[in-house]
Amino acid sequence: MMRLDKFLCEMGVGTRSEVKAYLKKGMVTVDGEVVKKPEMKVDENTAEICFQGKKLEFEAVQYFLLNKPAGCVTATRDRLSETVMSFLPENRRDDLFPVGRLDKDTEGLLLITNDGQLAHKLLSPKKHVDKTYFAVIDGKVEQAHIEQFSAGIDIGDEDLTMPAKLEILSSGDISEIQLTIQEGRFHQVKRMFEAIGCKVTYLKRISMGPLTLGDLQQGEVRVLSENEVAQLRSR
Ligand code: URA
Repeated sequence: MMRLDKFLCEMGVGTRSEVKAYLKKGMVTVDGEVVKKPEMKVDENTAEICFQGKKLEFEAVQYFLLNKPAGCVTATRDRLSETVMSFLPENRRDDLFPVGRLDKDTEGLLLITNDGQLAHKLLSPKKHVDKTYFAVIDGKVEQAHIEQFSAGIDIGDEDLTMPAKLEILSSGDISEIQLTIQEGRFHQVKRMFEAIGCKVTYLKRISMGPLTLGDLQQGEVRVLSENEVAQLRSR
């Protein structure tokens, strides 16, 4: 059981004060009856709660996959910049957060959920979840770098990076690569290439564990399938 106003807030209907105003205006029904009391206790699993005539489906956990465009920040709120949360649908839980962080100029796959346990698991280097990036590099990436990245390199932290898999897609003054890492240190990919005298000029995450972007376009978001959630949980 939970308070009606808390339920409505969590389901993304509005802030506490907005919800109070909606209730006052008679915009909320519980099992077909208009309810105006924010403190009313409801059973979130069985009550039929409607806002403006539309049933609100209670979901304790939600999982969204965003193809993040460059230019927005990976944060739940920011005073200056657009955040990744602005790409989510309006009627969503209010306690969602991005799992890990992509830089403002990085694009690609970002999971947004309120499942803290799963987030922790995906981010822990000990769990060895692969995160694969595509990058354009200013500089010649060569065979020797594959061994270096696989052995672990010094990016100025206490520890060397964990073994990473570098694939060279093209090598020249400008190179194109794919890099798979199992950690998520601050600016990790950019710092790994800096350590070998190169510069990342474009970076996009293309997969994380079993999750891939598929045909999700930039700025688009989709709900994870049950199968994807099950795969993530079983890790
Ligand atoms: N590594 C980086 O340097 N930046 C990102 O956004 C992600 C990984």
